[in-house]
Amino acid sequence: MRAVILAEFPRGLTIERDYDVSVPDLRGDKEQLIQALLNIVRNAAEALRERIQQGDARIELRTRVARKITIAKRLCKLALDLHIVDNGPGIPEDIRDRIFYPLVSGREDGSGLGLTLAQTFVQQHEGTIEVESRPGHTEFQILLPLSC
Ligand SMILES: Nc1ncnc2c1ncn2[C@@H]1O[C@H](COP(=O)(O)OP(=O)(O)OP(=O)(O)O)[C@@H](O)[C@H]1O
Ligand SMILES: [Mg+2]
Repeated sequence: MRAVILAEFPRGLTIERDYDVSVPDLRGDKEQLIQALLNIVRNAAEALRERIQQGDARIELRTRVARKITIAKRLCKLALDLHIVDNGPGIPEDIRDRIFYPLVSGREDGSGLGLTLAQTFVQQHEGTIEVESRPGHTEFQILLPLSC
């Protein structure tokens, strides 16, 4: 997934990995989960257009293990806690509350389906997806149950 995005944005973008190697294997639909992440990371890269030109665009992919955590009202013993962080301009304020809805886009050529699909795929794995955004820092958090 990281390689795909770096091939699409070959210059000016750094994608840093901060992976917890102790995360247990997750059973799921690999294609769906890759697609969900691609949509989120691609959005970040698209939002970073200006910083890519300046050469200081940055996306961080961070994984952690979460223990005893409530995900979608279910208490889980173990979960994957995944963060996708970018240093772009932030999600436009007027659509911030609605970005997961279909057809909501802040881009002229956007279809507004990428995040809807990402959320659907994460929910099919009984996970959740949330976002926090301000200028210079947008952070998506995906929680996926490993054992509940
Ligand atoms: N990391 C981000 N930084 C800033 N804005 C973002 C970020 N991620 C999403 N957005 C905003 O949320 C909108 C919705 O994203 P979504 O992926 O659902 O649709 P889209 O990218 O416009 O179209 P597509 O269906 O081609 O993905 C984007 O158009 C963009 O305005
Ligand atoms: Mg998109």
